[in-house]
Amino acid sequence: MKLFDVYPLYDIEIAKAKGSVVWDTNGQAYTDLYGGHAVISIGHSHPHYISRLSTQLHKIGFYSNSVHISQQVELAEKLGDLSGKENFQLFLCNSGAEANENALKLASFHTGRKHVIAFTNSFHGRTSLAVSVTDNRAIQAPINENTAVSFLVLNDIEGLKNEFTKHEICAVIIEGIQGVGGIHVASDEFLQTIRMLCDQVGAVFIADAVQCGYGRSGKFFAHDFAGVDADIYSMAKGMGNGFPIGGILVADHIKARHQLLGTTFGGNYLACAAANAVLEVMKEEDLMARATQTGNFLIERLSKIEGVKEVRGTGLMIGIDLNSDSTELRKKLLYKHHIFTGSASSKSVIRLLPALNLPIEMASHFLEVFEELMQAENARIHV
Ligand SMILES: Cc1ncc(COP(=O)(O)O)c(C=O)c1O
Repeated sequence: MKLFDVYPLYDIEIAKAKGSVVWDTNGQAYTDLYGGHAVISIGHSHPHYISRLSTQLHKIGFYSNSVHISQQVELAEKLGDLSGKENFQLFLCNSGAEANENALKLASFHTGRKHVIAFTNSFHGRTSLAVSVTDNRAIQAPINENTAVSFLVLNDIEGLKNEFTKHEICAVIIEGIQGVGGIHVASDEFLQTIRMLCDQVGAVFIADAVQCGYGRSGKFFAHDFAGVDADIYSMAKGMGNGFPIGGILVADHIKARHQLLGTTFGGNYLACAAANAVLEVMKEEDLMARATQTGNFLIERLSKIEGVKEVRGTGLMIGIDLNSDSTELRKKLLYKHHIFTGSASSKSVIRLLPALNLPIEMASHFLEVFEELMQAENARIHV
């Protein structure tokens, strides 16, 4: 049997990893500024993470959600503490798409409505509801076309207000910082307006924090910069530092009932051990503050480099928008200088999504290499 060929691959196989370094099967080291697609939050193979997971595995790896699992309660408490959303309720699942699927379904159960507002350049996942609110026709199958959804321009307040007069709105779903779409930040005023409009008509404000959450922006959720709460936060990537886990935080006015949501694997012992370890390390190593510090350092320096059109994002969720296509430059970074970065749907954008404890020397090293490559690129364009 062969693999179903859906992923364009780098010709590299990673054999081991530590902190923000990964090594290939030939022993070549790479600086990881991609974090395995924004997943590695506390660094690869963190000793506390390894210890938490292996200790748990020696006790029990899995039982079903039909029994008490105190590790889930522990996770809810730690999450409430670090995110400041103590009054929310936690439902656990296994991925970002699944978190959004549950968030949208819950919003519809709660309101009895079905019209959703989403935004241009959004990405919310590939399951049915999640993909139907994702702004990419190429990954929507005909079967996904039944969802009632309006795609509006991000940060267009008048457009948003106008749409609320046209439909009975079930939910608004929005990334605090769009990831796949190329690091576009939702403005504070826009998020505050969503809050206000949802309150006026009883619609549900869903904050997709799958990529921009878990401290990556310097705040626990990137949406927190706006100073208003959403009704549901969806989370995944950084949550388990690579162990598959997702979840939603649900405001307390949205009530649970038995069988409303459910999953076989969500919240299993190993996933909770991984997620508890992540939160412990985030607190112990003050990783949100470190993300802010290292992020500010990178953003300030990158903004001054000739050929960089714009640097967007906050903390360690950074988009470097070039005046030209970034594909060749990213290849040079990877194959010549052994630095992993991320792409975005817009070809001019390079995404940086490293672990929140990326050492400052590694950030400096990247800046030196990047500046050198940009100088060569600028010289080539000006010839
Ligand atoms: C903002 C956002 N939401 C949802 C998802 C889907 O997450 P998953 O791939 O875990 O299903 C992603 C994945 O990139 C994402 O960036």
